[in-house]
Amino acid sequence: MSFFLKNTFLFLLITLLFACKKDDKPVVTTNPPTPEFPDLSDIVYDPILVDLTIPDPLPPMDIPTDNPLTKDGVELGRFLFYDPILSGNETMACANCHLPKGGFTDNLAVSKGVDGTAGIRSSMSLMNAGYVTQGLFWDGRIQTLEEQALLPVEDPIELHNEWEEVEEKLRRHNDYPTRFRKAFGINNAGEITKELAVKAIAQFERSLVSANSKYDQVIRKEAFFEEDELNGFELFFDVPNDLPDAECGHCHNAPLFTVNQYFNNGLDSVGNLEDFVDKGLGAVTNNLFDNGKFRAPSLRNIALTAPYMHDGRFQTLEEVIDHYNEGAHFADNIDPLIRPRGLGLSEQHKKDLVAFLHTLTDTSFVNNPAFQNPFE
Ligand code: HEC
Ligand code: HEC
Repeated sequence: MSFFLKNTFLFLLITLLFACKKDDKPVVTTNPPTPEFPDLSDIVYDPILVDLTIPDPLPPMDIPTDNPLTKDGVELGRFLFYDPILSGNETMACANCHLPKGGFTDNLAVSKGVDGTAGIRSSMSLMNAGYVTQGLFWDGRIQTLEEQALLPVEDPIELHNEWEEVEEKLRRHNDYPTRFRKAFGINNAGEITKELAVKAIAQFERSLVSANSKYDQVIRKEAFFEEDELNGFELFFDVPNDLPDAECGHCHNAPLFTVNQYFNNGLDSVGNLEDFVDKGLGAVTNNLFDNGKFRAPSLRNIALTAPYMHDGRFQTLEEVIDHYNEGAHFADNIDPLIRPRGLGLSEQHKKDLVAFLHTLTDTSFVNNPAFQNPFE
């Protein structure tokens, strides 16, 4: 080959290569690319709003306008709540730490996560969770149930997973895509997100309404207190008579049996407000005077949720009442209604208070089939 021809050949080759580069597009085939996730638009989406029918004496519940309760939304939330698919090794669900028979707690002093690591706080009851309007958790650090439900999945001492992984598993699941379609009208399983998952969980939580305890029945004139229960009621609410004032109702007021506020109820003596082991509200507000304050939780179903307090330090209701009656510890921010010098309750008064607290147990709530594990 002559030098000239050789060069022309090279030139042609290079031009050809460049031409190829320019047109480096995927080869057009006649079939469209297979969609990554199934199309769901053929499944009927016809949401039915749930009317919570809240019985007396509970007030109406504020439901966020962007997450109304629907039949399929609540049901999807129940599945997610009980499904270990949310945890890293698929062995733990929300329900492991929030069991109906424990009044939606785990009956442990402090909860243990999926890796067996113990947390520092006691699980909280989710009963009437829709009424917790001034901050969730013992320290109030989170405002909405939707925000809250995002956290346990990625918490290393709870479910220890990644949301991206959960989303992926839900999208590829053989049942959840249909459930998300029915609950939220998505058109494609790829539209399943953590935001929708936590909306469903929050809907389920708002459906956990407890208002059928003996106390409620007495208020509705459907039942009567026994004598000890009535005395306990009068002690609890400081009814003016010759019984002492136990002061409980100021912080655990009816009908929710909480005022959703934060107090130091005298659990620890500290010389300096910096010294609380768990700073509670103070760690959220960075206000020294809030150190050692925790939310006064509802006392509904309290007989089911032992042990008691944010760190589960008391095993029984008798121990709790002994604390208020004679065991309160002084700190600069102790609430004035907590009496380090005692409440002056006799043994009989203490028994009466316990009897009253037992009237707050709502067995029809904890046994409600709509709240149980759907996988059993
Ligand atoms: C390892 C045990 C554990 C798991 C799993 C768990 N929780 Fe909890 N939950 C707790 C503990 C402990 C607290 C209190 C934490 C605190 O105050 O810091 C709590 C608090 C809450 C609260 C606040 C209630 C209130 O009245 O303020 C809600 C709501 C809740 N959990 C829902 C869930 C949901 C939903 C899931 C699943 C996505 C879940 N939890 C998984 C242990 C657990
Ligand atoms: C000044 C407000 C206040 C008064 C008065 C008060 N409490 Fe409390 N209560 C609290 C706070 C705050 C907590 C949570 C404290 C913590 O865990 O750190 C609490 C916790 C409890 C708990 C444990 C709840 C749980 O889920 O673990 C019980 C039971 C209880 N109180 C019963 C009573 C009784 C009975 C009385 C009356 C003798 C009473 N309280 C008076 C504020 C109060």
